[in-house]
Amino acid sequence: MADELDDIRSRISIVDLVGQVVRLKRSGKNWTGLCPFHSDKKPSFSVSDQSGYYRCWSCGETGSIFDWVMKTQNLTFGEAVKVLADQAGVVLSRQQGRPEEKEVKLGRLAAMESALSFFRTELARSNMALDYCKGRGLDEAVMATWEIGYAPDVGDAMARHLQKGGFPLSECKELFLVDQGSDGSYFDKFRGRLMFPIRDERANLVAFGGRLLGDGHPKYINSGDTPLYRKSRVLYGLNVAKNDLKNDAPIVLCEGYLDVIACHRAGVTTAVASLGTAATDLQAQLIKRYTKRAIILYDSDPAGEKAAQRASEIFGAEGLQVRVSLMPAGEDPDTLLRKAGPDAVKVAVDKGIHPVDFKLIQIQQRHNPADEAFWREAIDALTLCKNDLELRTYSQKLAPLVPDLKDPAEAARWLRAEAGKARKAKGRYDTPEAPMLAGRPLVGMKSVEADLFRAYLQPAFRAIIHPILTEEDLFLTLNAADLAKAILLKFGGSPPTEDGAILIGRMEDSDSAKVLAELEMTTSSRITLEWVKESITLLRNRKEDRDRNRIRLEGSGDERLDEISKRLKRKHEDAES
Ligand code: UTP
Ligand code: MN
Repeated sequence: MADELDDIRSRISIVDLVGQVVRLKRSGKNWTGLCPFHSDKKPSFSVSDQSGYYRCWSCGETGSIFDWVMKTQNLTFGEAVKVLADQAGVVLSRQQGRPEEKEVKLGRLAAMESALSFFRTELARSNMALDYCKGRGLDEAVMATWEIGYAPDVGDAMARHLQKGGFPLSECKELFLVDQGSDGSYFDKFRGRLMFPIRDERANLVAFGGRLLGDGHPKYINSGDTPLYRKSRVLYGLNVAKNDLKNDAPIVLCEGYLDVIACHRAGVTTAVASLGTAATDLQAQLIKRYTKRAIILYDSDPAGEKAAQRASEIFGAEGLQVRVSLMPAGEDPDTLLRKAGPDAVKVAVDKGIHPVDFKLIQIQQRHNPADEAFWREAIDALTLCKNDLELRTYSQKLAPLVPDLKDPAEAARWLRAEAGKARKAKGRYDTPEAPMLAGRPLVGMKSVEADLFRAYLQPAFRAIIHPILTEEDLFLTLNAADLAKAILLKFGGSPPTEDGAILIGRMEDSDSAKVLAELEMTTSSRITLEWVKESITLLRNRKEDRDRNRIRLEGSGDERLDEISKRLKRKHEDAES
């Protein structure tokens, strides 16, 4: 199949194909015209035979010859392949279908969906579970919207269900649905629990969370990481929330499943939760695809405050505009909704304040401005400013509190300088706000990453760049990390040798191919061997900064921290000498 797609691609010119509908003019190595997918005033649409892709720089539509036929003739992928095979005179072998990895993924998703339908059926049959839901104020409509289910307290009911459905249990084990005893028999991972399906932003069912019906330990069990699920990059509820994240509405980050559900019921329909983990930079990047504003809505206990602070730091560092809003004491959105009604939840959300103010309030509760500790922590709080302008504003605001300094302007300068130093020491940089979404370039990565992938498309640079694709957490953006992963998945450890355009073709019709094609269509003049090497070093240094930051935030591992600081210091000295 892959060979046949290649044959079709090589025989059909995308410029000819698109040119039948759009009037195209040559412009450099591409062709441009008015975009057929939106009402275009000036030519924003470019088509390239080299990469085999079209792309609108204004509305973001992009794709290959197959996408073009699918979209313009409203056909499925298989149908589009047939149409184009006919045109190209390529005879298709009997097997119609997608590339193999997709098959595997579809099989896994089918197992997950089958598990969900089992949980749903079981909920309808269990009076105990239904009573529990009723007691928590979950009505039929809510249970249906959130696809809540029940895992019966039977050793292997799910295992038997999956086996009957023809899903190999060894694979279901990888999906965290069943586990295997020492005698080799399979038993259910979730037993006697209310089940919450976790869908990713594209609504793929990737994991489950299960709550005990009563008290007990552990209260929740969540799927561990599986081939479908990496918990650090999924937000519960995002598949629903994304529909309302328009016009830059803020996303609302809560702590738990039932909090998300309560927020949505209260009309706060952009609520999501990071589950069983602290908020991550990957989640921040995921959010940036939809909005640049986030409100953190956590419990007001000490653990919640700490987590809120950490989340605001991580989100802020990714360029999100963050507000922190704690729940009234002793409440979470779920209890608040039931006790005080939807408006109370909305009010709590609207109370969000700037992370620096949030931290300053806490410092003021603990220390007196006459104490050194106050200023040590205040300066640390100021490092949360996302740029120098904010830093200046907050320094001026705090200046009158500085003891022994008569001149507020001088006090403000001192604060600004100290906080500036502290920020640098933390490896924080001025973070530009996340870009607006309309007109957002599809690639959505930092320019250094984009240029490294542009360089990667040239065989001459590929051998030096390929190894960094395997380096854990090296890239700065989720999009770049995803692209690196997709390339590795396709080509494995040894770099492909072919020309960029052919390489793009071999990526099949994936999102990654589109991103590469878009990179291929544009050029960058700074790419030289030296630049590539420097950029790789830059990414590695930035990663060390992040690691150091993370360790510091986790408040542990002082030795490791020291070691990294020393290494960095040496490196800076080397660079200067
Ligand atoms: P909470 O303990 O605040 O629970 O944990 P909750 O969401 O209010 O749940 P209810 O109202 O008691 O039913 C917040 C979130 O932390 C994760 C879950 O995602 C939970 O929703 N968590 C909590 C776990 O993953 N495991 C646990 O054992 C506890
Ligand atoms: Mn709760």
